[in-house]
Amino acid sequence: PRAAAPAVVLAAALVLGGAGAAHAAPGGPGPRWVDGATTSTDLYFPNAGNGGYDVADYDLELAYDPASGRLDGTATVTLTATQDLRSLSLDLRGLTATAVSVDGKPARFAQTPPPEDGRGGELVVQAAPKLRAGTQHTVTVVYGGVPGQPLDIEGANYGWTSTADGALVANEPEGASTWYPVNDAITDKATYTFAITVPEGLTAVANGEPVGLPVTADGRTTWTWRASDPMASYLSTASIGDFVQTTSTGPGGLPVLDFVDADVTGRALEVTRASLALQPDMVAFFEGVFGPYPFTSTGSIVDDDSVGYALETQTRPVYSGYASEDTVAHELAHQWVGDSVTPDTWRDIWLNEGFATYAQWLWSASRGGPTPQEQYDAVYGIDAGDDFWSVAPGDPGAADLFDAATYDRGAAALQALRTRVGDDAFFQVLRRWTTENADGSVSTADFVALAEQVTGQDLGQFFTDWIDTPAKPSGY
Ligand code: ARG
Ligand code: ZN
Repeated sequence: PRAAAPAVVLAAALVLGGAGAAHAAPGGPGPRWVDGATTSTDLYFPNAGNGGYDVADYDLELAYDPASGRLDGTATVTLTATQDLRSLSLDLRGLTATAVSVDGKPARFAQTPPPEDGRGGELVVQAAPKLRAGTQHTVTVVYGGVPGQPLDIEGANYGWTSTADGALVANEPEGASTWYPVNDAITDKATYTFAITVPEGLTAVANGEPVGLPVTADGRTTWTWRASDPMASYLSTASIGDFVQTTSTGPGGLPVLDFVDADVTGRALEVTRASLALQPDMVAFFEGVFGPYPFTSTGSIVDDDSVGYALETQTRPVYSGYASEDTVAHELAHQWVGDSVTPDTWRDIWLNEGFATYAQWLWSASRGGPTPQEQYDAVYGIDAGDDFWSVAPGDPGAADLFDAATYDRGAAALQALRTRVGDDAFFQVLRRWTTENADGSVSTADFVALAEQVTGQDLGQFFTDWIDTPAKPSGY
C-alpha cells in the first residue's frame, strides 16, 4: 500500500553505480583478489558481520519440527561484491551447512567453529569464478541442525528460542546467525522473503506481509512472508506457535496483523488485547512526531514468556507473555527510531533506546500519564553517587546495551535538549532525524550535527555531558 521513497531507490542505484564504475573503464586497474573479512568493523560485536560485500536480499526457506527442535533451511543470499573476492564469509553458528553454490554452481566451503563464548562461527565460501567488485551474485546455502538455546552476551535467551509449541525468534544484537547464514552487521540492511514450513495446525509469522495463503500438504503447512523494506538482520523474525490471528487497519489503510499465542489467557490476554487495540492510535500519534510510518504493515507476535523481553522486530514486534500499553508504544516507536533509522554501530544503542523511551513518555503523557518533564525529574532525581550515572549512554559497553542508561538517561537527555532549545526546534530535530534518515544508518555525531544545524547552538558540551560522560550531568 505504501510506495518506497524514491530518494532511497536513487541512493541505492548511485552506490551500485559508484562501486561498479571503478572497474568499468577499459584499461583501468585489474582485479586485486582478496578473501573477504570474517569480521565487521563494529566496535562491540566484530565477530558479527563480514567484509567485502553488501547483501540486497535474503530468500529463506525454513522447515521447523518443534518435537525434535530441528531446523532445516535453504538460504539464497543476493549480494553485491564491494571488493574483488576470492572468498567470502557468512555468519552461521550451531548449524551445519551441507551444500553451497554461487550463482548456481557448487562451491567449496568450510565452517569455522565459534570462539569460546559460542557467539561466532563463520561459513567461508570459495567463489569460482571469483567475484569482481560491483557485480551482483547469489549464494545458496543448504543447512540444518538443532539451534538449542542460544544465549546473548548478558546470558539472556535470544536467536532461535524454542517454545512449548514452536519458536520465538528475537536476534538483538547478533543472534540472527543462530537460524540462517547472514551478514550479521548492523549496517547491512536487506529485503527478505520467508517460506516457513511447520506441522499443520501451527502458524509461522515473519516480518512484512503474507504472500498468498498458507499451503498445506502431507500434514505440513508453509507460510510465506515478504518484507519489502530494507531491514537489519537483528530485526528479522520467524516465530512459530499456536497463534490466534486478528487483522485491523491503521492510518491510511496500514495493515495491522496481530498474532497472539492461544496460551495467553485471563488477565494477561485482557491487557494484551487492550494494548494492541491502541496500535492504530499510536501509529497516528507517532506519525505526528516522527513523520509517516516507515513500513508497509505493523502488528505483533505475543508468545509465551520464553524470552523474557519484547523486541522491535521490524513491522511485527515480539512480546513475551503479554503486551503492556507502555511496551507496545515503545516497540512501535522503535519502527521509526531503531528500525528505519538504525545506529551504524552497537555503541550508539541509545539512539534506539533513548529515543523509543522518549516516544513512550510522549505517548503516556498524551494518555494522562506523567509528563516528559516529570519523567525527567524522576531520572534526574537519582543521586549523583548512584551506579545509574556510571554508564555513559553513548558507550555503555557490549554487556550493558540494555542498561537503564541507554533507556532512561538517553530519554532524559532528549528532554534536557527540549528544555534547552524549545519545543519548536526540538520537534523539528526529531522529525528531520527520522524523515531524512529513513531506511538509513546513523551515528550520535549525526544527531549532534542536526541538532546544532536546526538550533544554531553549539551543543558539543551538552551532548558530551549527557551522552559520553559516565557521571551525572549538571542539568540542561
Ligand atoms: N530492544 C528491546 C527493547 O527495548 C530490548 C531487548 C532486550 N534484550 C535483552 N537481552 N535484554 O524493546
Ligand atoms: Zn527499546
